[in-house]
Parts: sequence; structure tokens; C-alpha cells
Amino acid sequence: MVRRLADVETPARIVYVLTDMAESNVDSWRENPNLRPYLEAGLLDLAVFNPVTDSTLVCERSRAVLRPGSVVNPVAAIANYLFCVQRQDLYLSKMGPIFEEWVGWERTAGGRRGFFAGLKFVTEMAPIASGRYREPRVDRLLHDVAGGGPVGLAGGIAPPRSRRFLFPIDPLRSLGTLSGISGGRFLLLIGERTGDPDGSARFLDMGVHGDSISLPVDLGIIDRLWRERGATLLRSERCSERLEVAAMISGVATGGASRLSSKLEEILSDDPVGTITGAGRLCEDKAGTLSLIDALDLLRAVELDSRFLDYVAPVLLRDLPGAPPPLRAEACRVLKQVWEGYFALDGNSDVSISVAGLLAAAEDHAEALAVLGSSDAAAIDPRARYLAAMCHASLGDPDAAQEAVDSARDLDPGFATLRHPPPPAK
Ligand SMILES: C[S@@+](CC[C@H](N)C(=O)[O-])C[C@H]1O[C@@H](n2cnc3c(N)ncnc32)[C@H](O)[C@@H]1O
Repeated sequence: MVRRLADVETPARIVYVLTDMAESNVDSWRENPNLRPYLEAGLLDLAVFNPVTDSTLVCERSRAVLRPGSVVNPVAAIANYLFCVQRQDLYLSKMGPIFEEWVGWERTAGGRRGFFAGLKFVTEMAPIASGRYREPRVDRLLHDVAGGGPVGLAGGIAPPRSRRFLFPIDPLRSLGTLSGISGGRFLLLIGERTGDPDGSARFLDMGVHGDSISLPVDLGIIDRLWRERGATLLRSERCSERLEVAAMISGVATGGASRLSSKLEEILSDDPVGTITGAGRLCEDKAGTLSLIDALDLLRAVELDSRFLDYVAPVLLRDLPGAPPPLRAEACRVLKQVWEGYFALDGNSDVSISVAGLLAAAEDHAEALAVLGSSDAAAIDPRARYLAAMCHASLGDPDAAQEAVDSARDLDPGFATLRHPPPPAK
């Protein structure tokens, strides 16, 4: 890969950093004559790094320090069989209470050869309450997963009444570190053993590799947390229990990456003329199940056509207020692009009002005002004036808000009473 990267023309120099928490591994790479030319050319660097406990990565040759806030470009990372050797916690949920299972081992007499072959595992159960993990989001996720819901391969497994599952706490924390270092803009390529999709089928489906072990990783759990944070996990439909290849993209436009937009591409290939109708039909079919990410993907798939806003506006209005900041920022970027690409032929003010309303729902009141300010039509529409009033008020400018309300009343004296009938006289 380093050799290939050297041939790629990019505006920025790409450096591949080999990392491991085990110093002995990093030592062996430093001594490896095959790697030396790349190290000396500055194409390859090394670092002792543990994403569970370190928030900073120091490249040993260049002395570059990757820490939150210091990295400008998105980061591409590769985790090949990393998550399966990291710590996971074992739980048993019994239709309500969740028990953590503590796993210990005993040596069996006359054990076979090999460290793990002569061990017998024993577990002890302890009930847990909320606050098991210090990160509230992760804690909520544990309770969601224990309560059932769409985890497991392709998210389609019905929850059994009582289930035992591994919770990938250290992989989740490693992803948190990657997100911190990259400012939330990363591509992660994952090669993992994902095991039996129904994790409860076999107890501790351990792989024994000499003196070390690995455990299957439920990428569905990881997906569930990171989806909320605006990331997209692309999983292979066909994979083996021993290796699933997946990619997670966060904070960068995913283009036609989602399953929905590939569905849309199918529709478009059947009916290239009916772009908006096809996409709209898809939206209507999926009403209620679309996420904010789906809505943004669909908007991109129809090349940010403003005619499509009406179809996705209900999803945006529903999800933008509670969306995590990076996802909200991405939505605002997309909405601004919709507005920039809009060419008003008929002086229709609705597009500027829709875009500004959605920006206001994303709490970008300044940008909402900028959109209204750049639309001639919006200046003569009382709805736009009321929206502007709301934005001014949210930005702490009551005078400007009052002025906007007054101008709305001047434009259409009956408007306010129509929408907000006065209380009945006593
Ligand atoms: C199964 S090996 C995979 C190595 C390599 N990626 C490959 O595909 O050949 C797992 C590696 O992850 C390292 N590792 C395990 N936990 C780690 C952690 N928390 N931080 C950094 N490295 C870790 C181990 O030292 C080991 O070298």
C-alpha cells in the first residue's frame, strides 16, 4: 500500500503510519529491511499507540503529533483484526434486567497442549444498573442493545427473549479516539471476524491463535452508535464468519453510498427522466423509516434539486433539532448548497423560506437570515418576515425581531390572526 500511495497524485502528501500498542511490534518494523526505504523516504512512519488509552498519536520519525484539533485533513485508518482482540464485555439480558457476566478460568487436570487448551471457563453473573459506562451515549447503547432491536448482521435479527451478547466497549472507545484525532472526518477500513450473526448461539465464540484469543465483533452495535453520530458503515452483503470487510465514513460526504441511494440509482436507471418523482416515491414508500442521513443522501443523489426539499423536509424538521453537531453541520452544508444551486425563474419565495426554515431547525439562525436576505422574493412574503423575526430573536436581537414582525404585519395584516387566532373574549 505504501508503494501504491507513493504513486498517487494528491494535493497533500500521504504518510502511512504503522501503529501497535506493543512496542516489540513497532521495534520489529523499525528493524525490518523491507520497510527501511519507505521509512527513509518519509512515506512510512511508526508509532506506539493504543486508541483505547491514548488520545494523542506521536509519529516517531517525523515527530508529527496527531491530537484533537491538530489535524486538518480527513484521516484514513485501517483496523485489520484489531477489534476482535480488544476488550469486550459480556452481558445477559433477561427480558428487562441486564446481567454482566464476569469470566474467569480454571485449569483442568491433564490439559492438552497449549495455554488455552487446558482451561475451563467459569462465569459469575452480576446485575447492572445505568451508569455502567462513563460515556452516557455508550451506556444508553448498552441498554438499547440489551432491550433488543436491530443489531446483528444487516440489522434484521429479531431479539430473542433472553440473549447473551458481547458489547464491544474497547472498539467503541477506539473509534471515539479516531474521531477525536480526525475532528470527526475519517474513513476507517475494517477487516474483522464478525462471527455468528446471532451472538447468543455459542457461548464465547473464541478463536484461539497460539497464546492469544479473539472474539467475534458485532459491527451492528458499532453501526448503531455511529449512525447517530452521522457516520455511515458500509458492510459487505456476502462475507464469511472469519472475515468481514467494512468501511466507516464519518464527516465527509458519502455521495451515493447509502443503501437508499443505490435503490434510487436503480429507479433512475429504469426511469432517468423521472428523477424527482422516483426519489419522491421512494421517500413516500419509506416514510417514517428515513433517517436524517438517508434524507441527506437522497438530496445529494438528486443533485441537490430544490424541488426535492418538500419530500425530505418532514424528516429534516423531525431530526435536525436533536442531531449531533457534526451531522447538523453537514445538513447545513447540504442545505446551503441546495440554495446556492437554486435558480429562481418565477420569483417563487418558497425555496428560500424552506431552506431558511430548515437551517433555523438546525439552529444555524445566522445562515437562515443570510438565505432570506439573499432572496428578493422572501422580502415580500410575510412568512419569511416571521421566520426572520424568530431567527433575530434566537440570536438575541429583539429590536430586529420586532422590526421583522412589524414588516410582516404591514405586508399582510390578516396573516398573524389567521394562523394564531386571538383567544376568545371573556
Ligand atoms: C490480530 S493482530 C492483527 C495485526 C495486523 N493488523 C494484521 O492484520 O496482521 C492484532 C494486533 O493488535 C494489537 N492490539 C491489540 N489491542 C490493541 C490496542 N488496544 N491498541 C493498539 N494495538 C492493539 C496487537 O498487539 C496485535 O498486534
